[in-house]
Amino acid sequence: MTVSPSRLAYLHHGTRSPEQAAALEWARDVLPAVDAVPLVSVADGSADLARYDVCWWHADSDPSSALADGTSGLAAAFADYLDGGGGLLLTLRAVEAVEPLGIDRIGPDAVGVAHPQSTSGFLVHPLYEDHPAFAGFDDRRIRTLGPGHASPHARYEALLPADGHVLAGGFTDEHDRPDRSTVVWWPREQGGAVLGVGASLSFADRVIAPYGMAGASVVEHALAALAAPEPTAGMRVPVERGYRDVEHLRAMRRAQADAPNKPTYHLTAPANWLNDPNGLVHWNGRYHLFYQYNPGGAYHGSIHWGHATSADLVTWRDEPVALSPDPDGPDRDGCWSGCTVVADGEPILLYTGGRGRDQLPCRATTDDVDLRTWRKDPANPVIAETPTDPPLLETDDWATEFRDHCVWEADGTWYHLVGSGVAGVGGTVLLYESTDPELRDWEYRGPVLTGDGGHGVVWECPELLRFNEWDLLHVSNGDHVDYFVGHLDTDTPRFEVVDSGRLDHGDFYAPQSTEAPDGRVLTWGWLPEERGAPEQWDAGWSGAMSLPREVWVDHDGRLHQRPAEELAALRGAHESLSGPLDESWTDLDLSGQALELDLTVALDDADGVELGVLEAADGEGRAVVRWEDRELRIDRAAASEGPVSSVEPQWLHLPADGTLTLRVFVDHSVVEVFAGDGACLTSRVYPGEARDGVSIRALGGRATVDLDAWRVASTWE
Ligand code: FRU
Repeated sequence: MTVSPSRLAYLHHGTRSPEQAAALEWARDVLPAVDAVPLVSVADGSADLARYDVCWWHADSDPSSALADGTSGLAAAFADYLDGGGGLLLTLRAVEAVEPLGIDRIGPDAVGVAHPQSTSGFLVHPLYEDHPAFAGFDDRRIRTLGPGHASPHARYEALLPADGHVLAGGFTDEHDRPDRSTVVWWPREQGGAVLGVGASLSFADRVIAPYGMAGASVVEHALAALAAPEPTAGMRVPVERGYRDVEHLRAMRRAQADAPNKPTYHLTAPANWLNDPNGLVHWNGRYHLFYQYNPGGAYHGSIHWGHATSADLVTWRDEPVALSPDPDGPDRDGCWSGCTVVADGEPILLYTGGRGRDQLPCRATTDDVDLRTWRKDPANPVIAETPTDPPLLETDDWATEFRDHCVWEADGTWYHLVGSGVAGVGGTVLLYESTDPELRDWEYRGPVLTGDGGHGVVWECPELLRFNEWDLLHVSNGDHVDYFVGHLDTDTPRFEVVDSGRLDHGDFYAPQSTEAPDGRVLTWGWLPEERGAPEQWDAGWSGAMSLPREVWVDHDGRLHQRPAEELAALRGAHESLSGPLDESWTDLDLSGQALELDLTVALDDADGVELGVLEAADGEGRAVVRWEDRELRIDRAAASEGPVSSVEPQWLHLPADGTLTLRVFVDHSVVEVFAGDGACLTSRVYPGEARDGVSIRALGGRATVDLDAWRVASTWE
């Protein structure tokens, strides 16, 4: 293969290690002109980098001694060189130099030597698989190191680079390690770029085919790309801008517009990982939905706050990433869930900062009317210690399980709920109080409600909503969302439970609500995936939001939920079906993977009714929504293509009744069902691209149906 760099500077410091010597020898074999350039001569300005179109620093041990001999000179020389369009390749522990050299504010946090038993290498991000460094591979799992070789590394694990794009995670002992960000691309505004490959390379061992050869191929292609004037021109998702930039986010969404299984009118992240809705607020004429977002890939890690907004709940647009972990802050390892509160006319965020084994409440404010930029409080965390009474749960991960925030004001006092667990007892919701309009000073009051273990050992994302004479408290218990209707007495403090149930009987978690301008309470929940981590990584996206649900409690204390009425504006092509059904399937004359189906069913002498959605042309492989024996069930065993982690049916009980009204929202991998006026059942299924049919039949007799169906348009601007 022809390699384009005409002149490579192979950087080194002091005596070359056997690995560095082998890399230099390899470079001299494959490239036309290679100079060994001492870093000290770069630092003191005696080496003229402008003579080279690529510089490569390959370090299999701690690079700090090299840096100690002139960091500022090196930083200045590299900045000049890169601004002039040069390319810099940093491999193995040389990636540690990105922070001292000013290439990134955040350096790799996982540095050392690993000894993988089996093969290791790179797990390529699906949106960046066309990066030139990976040319020639058609597998996203690139094995570059054979079994048993020491692997020096400098990669990102708890952290992400602030400005670089993660092109690949890790692959070790035949397992995906998406949480090991190993290959990072730093575009430079003035042209030029830096590529870091922080693991799984060995030139000394490259004779051990095929692994070492694969690693050498990545380096060879990377050097060629870095020498090119526009190294990444032509990539499907440009990587010339930072990963928080809205144009980059929108480019990722466009690239995934037709991604199989990705919902189009249920909110998703542009790509990568999404979990809980956060900070919901209607502000300055728009709904703001923030969400737990990992820009590093479709796995839970290094959580930022993503942001989407809408004026009408119908059309949404992506906004820049709103909150990022601060390497020096109490949120270093993640900006976890929280809420927006408007206090004295000013929006304030309270969210959970994670660092090491601590999770503590943090605060951020803004004067940006679009809520795009936030100032974190320098005094964070606002609550520095977790309560000791009752004894709260400690786990392997956390000194105290203590997170997520719900804040409201009543009669001049601010109340603040935090989710937790009482050791040996069960999930709990803790109450704080404040009269500080800035929401900085909080006084601990105690738990308002504690479960009995049967409801989960930790309660996450507690939320209190008030409806006339009733309070509704819901908590997410690691599996599902329990709600309690009753009364909160903030003096005792205690939540008196009158009734309880589940908000949704399927895949629905960590919901949060906000008030619409007309007073309706709208709730969104996270719809977690039901397929494995490798499938999520390969899809390039994970997680969706439920539809916005209008939630209320009536005077009798009964909970009701229905889809926000604005969603009707997304309806397109329409078909209806009315009349008797027998036991053979009747096909609907409308197909699609984004559909709304509204139906009323009367059982007549039938035992039940089955509605099939997402079905293949031959009628096989459908997801079935079945109403029978006072039960509404979604049977999804045959509905998915590819491996899924759960095909168990999901169901809810309904009161006995001869008629039932259902609203069924099908959106690629989401089937969200509203039954009657209160019960919800949301399921994830993975139909792939082809399955889109709808049909219906009665079971054991005849039934009558009245069905309206619409195609539903995408919600993205
Ligand atoms: C719920 C949750 C929260 C936490 C967040 C982290 O899904 O675990 O308790 O704040 O997600 O992403």
